[in-house]
Amino acid sequence: MTETAADEQAVAGVAPALRLRGVGRRFGGLHAVRSVDLEVAPGERRAILGPNGAGKTTLFNVIAGDLSASSGSVELFGQDVTHMPSRHRARLGLARTYQQSRLLLGLSVEDSIYLSILGVAGGHLRPVILKRRDRAIRQRAREAARRVAIEHKLAELVGSLSHGEHRQVAVAMALASEPKILMLDEPASGLSRGERLLVTELLLGLDRAITLILIEHDMDVALRVAERVTMMHDGNVIVEGTPDEIRANELVHELYLGRQHYADE
Ligand SMILES: Nc1ncnc2c1ncn2[C@@H]1O[C@H](COP(=O)(O)OP(=O)(O)OP(=O)(O)O)[C@@H](O)[C@H]1O
Ligand SMILES: [Mg+2]
Repeated sequence: MTETAADEQAVAGVAPALRLRGVGRRFGGLHAVRSVDLEVAPGERRAILGPNGAGKTTLFNVIAGDLSASSGSVELFGQDVTHMPSRHRARLGLARTYQQSRLLLGLSVEDSIYLSILGVAGGHLRPVILKRRDRAIRQRAREAARRVAIEHKLAELVGSLSHGEHRQVAVAMALASEPKILMLDEPASGLSRGERLLVTELLLGLDRAITLILIEHDMDVALRVAERVTMMHDGNVIVEGTPDEIRANELVHELYLGRQHYADE
């Protein structure tokens, strides 16, 4: 979404997909996130950058409800979800992947995606109803695999896949819940150049109805995919702008780009 489109939406009174006001999170005396204000428009592609320990993953955890906020508020599509458990936020259309893979290596790709759909659709599993719905859910799992170009590995065990394929499966699992907001924590980390290109293409090809929020150290991926970039440092947002503005920003260079965050393996 362009800035203009976001402005138009604001004028038309459309609620942002995500709105944070003064969000903070402490761990004892450590302020991992201090006071973050953030608005992401529906359909926008947003990247969150920042050095190690800046608070990016903690912010994701607070948005998703995996961690409670120590201060401030979180809204999804205009609804205050600050005190809502993560599974309810998932039902509102929020899906995420994790920085560290949480895949079960002994499951097949299809079963992994299938179970992630049940996790959202679930609550109470009723076997009889489930049986009737099973075929439709299997179909959805296969469709999600197709969207991330991993359908040829549906029957394989997750444990037999490459690191890059693990990332694809994780994105497929998130997509299978048909999210309105997809949050990815470093989807390109540890990938080969070829795999990073694949992930970039995958993200560029995502349905525009999905709002995408991406934490990514790889600038090639982040600046290519994002329309706006939020730069965090020491628990705060310090710069926000378009990829061009971020490239030209001196503070960004000083705190971040100077440290060689361009992956070049
Ligand atoms: N569960 C936790 N308990 C205590 N401290 C934590 C916890 N999670 C994160 N922290 C601390 O909070 C700070 C921010 O961590 P966070 O993981 O959010 O950073 P990040 O920006 O995601 O970094 P990276 O780029 O390395 O993933 C760090 O100092 C980290 O050690
Ligand atoms: Mg992190």
